[in-house]
Amino acid sequence: MRPRAIGNGVQWMGAVDWERRVFDSLVPIPDGTSYNAYLVTGSGGTALIDTVEPEMGDRLRSQLDEIGPVDVVISQHAEQDHSGLLPEVLERFPDAPLYTTPLGRRMLVDHLGIDGDRVRPVKDGDSIDLGDRTLQFLHTPWVHWPETMCTYLAEEKILFSCDFFGSHLATSELFAGDDPAVVEAAKLYYGEIMQPFRNHIRKNLEKVRGLEVELIAPSHGPVHDRPETILGAYEDWSTETPGNLVVLPHVTMHGSTGLMVDRLITALVDRGVNVLPVDLVTLDEGRLAKALLDAATVVFGTPTVNGGPHPRVATVAGLVNYLKPKTRYLSVIGSFGWSTTVGKSLPAMLPDLDAEMLEPVLSRGLPGAEDMAAIDVLAETIAERHRDL
Ligand code: FEO
Repeated sequence: MRPRAIGNGVQWMGAVDWERRVFDSLVPIPDGTSYNAYLVTGSGGTALIDTVEPEMGDRLRSQLDEIGPVDVVISQHAEQDHSGLLPEVLERFPDAPLYTTPLGRRMLVDHLGIDGDRVRPVKDGDSIDLGDRTLQFLHTPWVHWPETMCTYLAEEKILFSCDFFGSHLATSELFAGDDPAVVEAAKLYYGEIMQPFRNHIRKNLEKVRGLEVELIAPSHGPVHDRPETILGAYEDWSTETPGNLVVLPHVTMHGSTGLMVDRLITALVDRGVNVLPVDLVTLDEGRLAKALLDAATVVFGTPTVNGGPHPRVATVAGLVNYLKPKTRYLSVIGSFGWSTTVGKSLPAMLPDLDAEMLEPVLSRGLPGAEDMAAIDVLAETIAERHRDL
């Protein structure tokens, strides 16, 4: 695609990656993504904000061929999907200084071999003058690396936000409008990428709320031309209050744990508790990450294998711990052959969750009436806790 105007003297550049399906060798991105760079042209100079994933470098190269010289380069985030083409851009525009945060400078030197002498580190609130355009830098750490910043173009009321407010969504649409698919994609992105950092996100949201913003231009997905929609969604997702939802990641090997999972689903629904079973054999990590945003409780359903949880459950426990959801209650159900440690070993895999462990229900062999009654008690306990949310 060619450069496309999003405002007066402001152009979208970059690449739409229609085919990519996995990010960071971890994160499913079922709808592709985009790497958005932006060009801001003032009466006194032109600034390029961010670049693209190096594999899509040809797209940005051909766009740069169409425009005049770039006087200033800005790096809002050192991760390579935005910074990867910086060495080439700096070579192409040898007189252009590179603006980033002090920590961004160190990371660009470390990760990309950028010449530190080209970098002008900016403090929070610093601005640069492009004549009739002013770019102000806002330090917004941990969205989602420690060095991240946003850039505010006051004259156009545009916030360039990099990963903050982004969505992995490949589309020819430049603006989000009222499309609910963009909010869903942004929620998936938030669940996968931003979820562990909600304390920082709330602080950074306050900072953004202090600005008059008409457009939020992230570095993935469409530009938010109704900024209240995405700001309100972020405020909702980043609260500490979970919803009336149990997420139930589970595996069964010979059916016994499966019977217990089915019983718990029925018992929870009977008590007005929403439940999302997640089969770990056909796991979609993104769906799990998104569901965790709302989950007051996570119950793992696992058979015992060699004394501990099934390896798939152990892997997902690690993922849940990494995502640090706002979940308040945990438990584990499942069948074991002759002995088990999962009542203790599984919670020990979740040290970063501030969650109460509810009494596990573990059945020797095929679950009997007493085991099923214990499942009902667990469901009742969960329902009571959820009423108090
Ligand atoms: Fe889109 Fe953190 O990179």
